[in-house]
Amino acid sequence: MSQSSSIVRKVTMSLSGLFLLTFLPLHLLINSLSLCSADLFNDAVHFMETNLLIQVMQPALGIGFLVHIIMGIKLEMQNRKARPIKYEFEDAKGSSTWASRNMIVTGLLLLAFLCLHMANYFVKMKFTGMDGQTAFELVTNLFSMWYYVVIYVVSFVLLGVHLSHGFSSAFQSVGANHTKYNPIIKMAAQGYVAVITIGFTIIPILHFLGIAPFCTL
Ligand code: HEM
Repeated sequence: MSQSSSIVRKVTMSLSGLFLLTFLPLHLLINSLSLCSADLFNDAVHFMETNLLIQVMQPALGIGFLVHIIMGIKLEMQNRKARPIKYEFEDAKGSSTWASRNMIVTGLLLLAFLCLHMANYFVKMKFTGMDGQTAFELVTNLFSMWYYVVIYVVSFVLLGVHLSHGFSSAFQSVGANHTKYNPIIKMAAQGYVAVITIGFTIIPILHFLGIAPFCTL
């Protein structure tokens, strides 16, 4: 493996990661409408399903996920081959975090979550049918089962851990590494991770507890 193709992989990985980072806030915004009102959420999902721009972006999103996953696995295999005992050295220096050393573990667990999540929603809404349920009922019925709430909440915590390293690392890999801007990137990463993790986590919990929806729209 030449050094230049290794850099190309790392940059591709970072660019696809940065692209995926733009999807999550929009997805969170739409999903948090389910905490407000059933009609508002159903209308937003319908808009997403029929909007031309979103229809064009959906395959791009799928490709983004595929590229990110394939590159991640390849990079991990390449790193293991090159430095089988790297973590002992990094630990001793204290230069790595648990999140940075376990990106492949959290990444693969998130892949398993994504497969389950697609079966829960995407496949039903796009291909197999929803048994007469609305999108809102699909969400509330799923989160009436405690084990789905546990699986989703654990996955969102893993997502937070994965992003806590991924966000800053992606910026560094595409060259945004400057003593002046690094603290700003770090702060943006912490803010982004907190909003995404807490935002997604409260959705299944509030539905399970029967607290949501709480708007009168
Ligand atoms: C409470 C949390 C979540 C809920 C209620 C939720 C709900 C949904 C629903 C209803 C859809 C189908 C929308 C459609 O096809 O138009 C969907 C699709 C999708 N979700 Fe989620 N989701 C959640 C969290 C996440 C997270 C954390 C990720 C990523 C790590 C994710 C990734 C996706 C992807 C990739 C799709 C397919 C693309 C799309 O349809 O836009 N979801 N989700």
